[in-house]
Amino acid sequence: MSHDLFLAAQAAMVKCYAPYSRFPVGAAILTADGRVYTGANIEIASYPEGWCAETTALSHFVMGGGGKITEVAVIAERMPRVTPCGGCRQRLAEFCEPDTKIHLCDEAGVVETVTMGELLPYGFRGDILK
Ligand code: THU
Repeated sequence: MSHDLFLAAQAAMVKCYAPYSRFPVGAAILTADGRVYTGANIEIASYPEGWCAETTALSHFVMGGGGKITEVAVIAERMPRVTPCGGCRQRLAEFCEPDTKIHLCDEAGVVETVTMGELLPYGFRGDILK
């Protein structure tokens, strides 16, 4: 299944809008009930207003009904084994468990699989805000 998720992330990456960095990124999210949501990075001429591929994918996941995330795949065309940025780690952690698998990919497939907890130890937890 992780290779299928890699393929979904790769297909999403092609849809990026990254005319400024020319750094295409794709992400794909698999839910426990088998749904897949994807996203690419979207840049804006006012640079800080752009956002990451993982954020686009999370938006689709929430709007598609949310639920439990079991696996995530991330790929960047120009960086083998890209890892999600700090902000996206916090966003992913909002909807993932510490043992959720995050697949880091290159152009051929999954290079390394880490857990959400490994990517973001000591992340801020919003439980107390509820
Ligand atoms: N980018 C992502 O989409 N995800 C990350 O985790 C790291 C960075 C994008 C943002 C920007 O469009 C481009 O990569 C260069 O930073």
